[in-house]
Amino acid sequence: MESHLIDSLDFHTARALLQWQVELGADEACLDAPVNRYETPKAAPKPKAAVEAAPVQAAPKVDPVAVAKAVAAGAKTLDDLRAAMGAYEHCELKRGARNLVFSDGNPAARVMIIGEAPGRDEDREGKPFVGRAGHLLDRMFDAIDMGRTAPISAQSIYITNVLPWRPPQNRDPEAAEIAMLRPFLERHVEIVAPEVIVLMGNIACQAVLGRRGITRLRGNWQEAFGKPVLPMFHPAYLLRQPSAKREAWADLLSLQAKLRSLA
Ligand code: URA
Repeated sequence: MESHLIDSLDFHTARALLQWQVELGADEACLDAPVNRYETPKAAPKPKAAVEAAPVQAAPKVDPVAVAKAVAAGAKTLDDLRAAMGAYEHCELKRGARNLVFSDGNPAARVMIIGEAPGRDEDREGKPFVGRAGHLLDRMFDAIDMGRTAPISAQSIYITNVLPWRPPQNRDPEAAEIAMLRPFLERHVEIVAPEVIVLMGNIACQAVLGRRGITRLRGNWQEAFGKPVLPMFHPAYLLRQPSAKREAWADLLSLQAKLRSLA
């Protein structure tokens, strides 16, 4: 019964109502005011822990360049470096490639050649510059009495690429891919310690010198990794533009002269 009704009842009426409830079995007063148990109960408040539960923690973001720097720095030998690159999981190119293409030639060579990335043939064989561009590269160095299989280290060359994995459809590498693989290239140069470096084409120039523009850069000695560096036209470009072989020949003679001056 509503409390304002009870307030307005006279003593006798209220007593009769109470007695009627006792007869119905009511033996205890629980609350001062009646409660209608048929009313829709209010939604129970959510437990505090559920309301204030911490948001799901995102996995900590990995910096692929920092990881590459750390693992490359730990490599003491070429075998270490190859293993570190093989275990590196932050470059998507790895998933589409058949092989890690690490290097070819003589690690004791005076000249280190840095190309772009493996193509189909290199991916298949696991060696850099083994396709058509590679054959031209061999012929170019042969013309100055140098080569990857030369028995004398003074006449040999050592070859690697900016990227060890073939990009799909031979597309240009992305800036992020170059950035995450550069620490390995830098360590590669440190371990091999060549006297001079030849950069084949724009991608190698971008990775090592931070700029492209091979037509202007080629033939002009630069410095990188503390070494003299010579940008040249990529042999694949020379296959498409045979007229540019004249400049490539001039650059090979410039390389030969540099090696003589350093001997
Ligand atoms: N082009 C490159 O730059 N590197 C290779 O290994 C093959 C082709």
